[in-house]
Amino acid sequence: MDGFFDKQVRFLYPDHRYADTTITIRLVDLAPLMKPRFCVLFHPTPWTSRVFLIGGSVDFVQKKPSLDDLVILASEGFRQPITPELIGDVERHLADTDFCVCIFDGGTLVGCMLCKLPIPGVLYIAGTLILPQYQGAGIKSEVTRMVMRDHPELLWFAGRTQSPIVWSSVQGIASELLPHPRPHVATDKMHERRRELARALGMTSTIQQGFYGGALYGEKPINRDGRVQAWWDSICNFERGDAVLYIARL
Ligand SMILES: CC(C)(COP(=O)(O)OP(=O)(O)OC[C@H]1O[C@@H](n2cnc3c(N)ncnc32)[C@H](O)[C@@H]1OP(=O)(O)O)[C@@H](O)C(=O)NCCC(=O)NCCS
Repeated sequence: MDGFFDKQVRFLYPDHRYADTTITIRLVDLAPLMKPRFCVLFHPTPWTSRVFLIGGSVDFVQKKPSLDDLVILASEGFRQPITPELIGDVERHLADTDFCVCIFDGGTLVGCMLCKLPIPGVLYIAGTLILPQYQGAGIKSEVTRMVMRDHPELLWFAGRTQSPIVWSSVQGIASELLPHPRPHVATDKMHERRRELARALGMTSTIQQGFYGGALYGEKPINRDGRVQAWWDSICNFERGDAVLYIARL
């Protein structure tokens, strides 16, 4: 059904009346009726970092964030101190976007997606930054779906990353994805688009060694699935600063 999707939520609070039960929550996208808004479920607790409670809602607003706000998100997301280099990097990214989606909790900016349209049919996600306490609640997935829905001319979405968490987050919503541990499942067209995108972005290869000149994160992002992490480490050398260009279809 359009505008609705269901999410399985397992309550892990030891003493909660729903403890250890799985329920289905219907998330309602009211975008056709008003500004985009949907429920997100989050509430990290001491028992587990991935417990969800019905915690409220966030707003998605298509606008550019201020440089100061984005620098704070970048510093938190990449676990890097705020330095002139970080500010310069964020400034360049912000200037080089076609549009942005800001995520607000009340009046507070809690995340942002920077979007670019470098070649026809492809949404290039130049960066997504979600404050740590809001991560894992499906925000990036939902913003991606929303942008793709609002731009029916876009068939693909893509991004460049060092993080296998980004890859997993994309995999969660993608019907087709490159790179993939089983690359033969992707169509030739997809391989072709990925190479075309790499060229448009000035990359010499879809996985470019040393692209960032060193680790992008102050702390290496680790995928909770050891097999995904091992595969990722085999294609992306974190310390060397390798960049992986992914491309996907919903
Ligand atoms: C990467 C990031 C943008 C993802 O945004 P998000 O809103 O947290 O992602 P989503 O909630 O939409 O994705 C959740 C999915 O990611 C995956 N995921 C999240 N954390 C994971 C982890 N530690 N290991 C494996 N998969 C993980 C899961 O598949 C999860 O889906 P599920 O809950 O149905 O299992 C966000 O975590 C972030 O800002 N990180 C720091 C900055 C960063 O790395 N930005 C990307 C720069 S290219």
